[in-house]
Amino acid sequence: MNQEIFEKVDHYISNLLAPEDEALINTTALIEKEKLPNQSISPVQGKMLQVFAKACNAKRILELGTFGAYSTIWLAKALPENGKLITIEFDEIHAKLAKQNIYTANLSHIIEIKTGKASDILNNMIQNREEHFDLIFIDADKPPYAEYFQQVLKLSRKGSIIIFDNVIRAGKVLDENSNDEKVKGVQRLNNLLKDCKEVTATILQTVGMKEHDGMLIAVVN
Ligand code: SAH
Ligand code: DHB
Ligand code: MG
Repeated sequence: MNQEIFEKVDHYISNLLAPEDEALINTTALIEKEKLPNQSISPVQGKMLQVFAKACNAKRILELGTFGAYSTIWLAKALPENGKLITIEFDEIHAKLAKQNIYTANLSHIIEIKTGKASDILNNMIQNREEHFDLIFIDADKPPYAEYFQQVLKLSRKGSIIIFDNVIRAGKVLDENSNDEKVKGVQRLNNLLKDCKEVTATILQTVGMKEHDGMLIAVVN
């Protein structure tokens, strides 16, 4: 099928423009050593997040769903030395692994991991009038994606970029009768954005070394 050429081109792009440094290579190695199924984004997707972070001159980044901190490290490296990245993870084992990877990457002064349920932590941040974020990457559990969108809007400013991972799910998003809670979650988000006046949004369909999928990119109006 076409998968073979998609993977070759993905490697071509990553060799050219998205080479992994030692910190990223170590992160993936540790995830594999712990025998956790790899849920990280790809190198080319990591570089794309960096491009968006630079495009909005990001000083403060918020992430939902840390896992091993692979995407976190890509994002943090697009920040200035006085930048700040808050990443939310509810699985203690993932958070511990992420902390180790962030320490090895020398990024502990920029990245803060908050452990707990994303919806609770977001509510706390909204109540405490947390300073706005310039870029928000959402990659935690999929069923509440639409609710996460409503919450993070309250933590954004005009021009903030909001990115959601995994919104196409190998095309399963086309099945209007799907019983898959993850598919139903991303469908609710995608449909919510159809007539949403608060953001300008599109979806980038992605192929390559990961399963056929897509990232939703929105800019706050
Ligand atoms: N962004 C990571 C991958 C994240 S995988 C990367 O690309 O490198 C999704 C993560 O979200 C998992 O670690 C999972 O434990 C976490 N997660 C799932 N539900 C959550 C919730 N309700 N609150 C916070 N984190 C959650
Ligand atoms: C899973 C989650 C993700 O965010 C991803 O990019 C890949 C897989 C998962 O839950 O299996
Ligand atoms: Mg993902």
